[in-house]
Amino acid sequence: MTNELKIPTHIAIIMDGNGRWAKSKGLKRTAGHEEGAKVVRSITKYCNNIGVKFLTLYAFSTENWKRPKLEVEFLMKLLDKYLKNELEVYLKNNVRFKAIGDLSRFSKKLQETIKTTEEKTSKSTGLTQVLALNYGSKDEIIRAIKKLNEKALDVTEENLESCLDTAGIPDVDIMIRTSGEVRLSNYLLWQNAYAEMFFTQTYWPDFTKHELDDIISDFNSRERRFGAI
Ligand code: FPP
Repeated sequence: MTNELKIPTHIAIIMDGNGRWAKSKGLKRTAGHEEGAKVVRSITKYCNNIGVKFLTLYAFSTENWKRPKLEVEFLMKLLDKYLKNELEVYLKNNVRFKAIGDLSRFSKKLQETIKTTEEKTSKSTGLTQVLALNYGSKDEIIRAIKKLNEKALDVTEENLESCLDTAGIPDVDIMIRTSGEVRLSNYLLWQNAYAEMFFTQTYWPDFTKHELDDIISDFNSRERRFGAI
């Protein structure tokens, strides 16, 4: 990564293709998720090193509950294990952790792990790693509107943003989806309003910092006009 490049403030990723990666290697789908978790770690570290401030990763959607029970249970355990192992790494690297989504559907144990990780890393001033957990953009917007009503706030962009799970986090600059699928799947619909979109064929477990470098270079060559001319 050369010094002249503008580093995006906020990168969001739909980490897709864990299952297909595993299948292509004759492994169980869960092996793909395990490998995907390792890539979460390496990409988070890299983004922090180059000065990205927010990395928002789609780890579990409101629709993912429809998966086989065993796979859902595996993902919950993996998440709990990941967060517990990662605490030391977050602190060592000055990374803050934050979760978005409706966490109330998770087990008390997982909710506790999430809360503890958020609290213990709250003083970090480097990258904020945001995990979207039981997250769906429509659900987030509905919950935000309910909060607006409860607080009797005027319906303005600013007030609505202050009630979103991402309150205080700037809009997305770069949105990436791996594995060849070309859709947003209910992810950060509000926050992606002016994001530059990148769709790559790579399955998430094969995604590398070199590919991210190429995306950031491409981002630098795009002209963002935000509706102006
Ligand atoms: C999409 O692959 C991935 C998910 C639904 C879950 C994302 C989870 C991880 C990257 C690992 C765990 C994360 C953390 C933070 C510990 P898919 O299963 O939809 O793959 P497919 O489309 O090929 O079936």
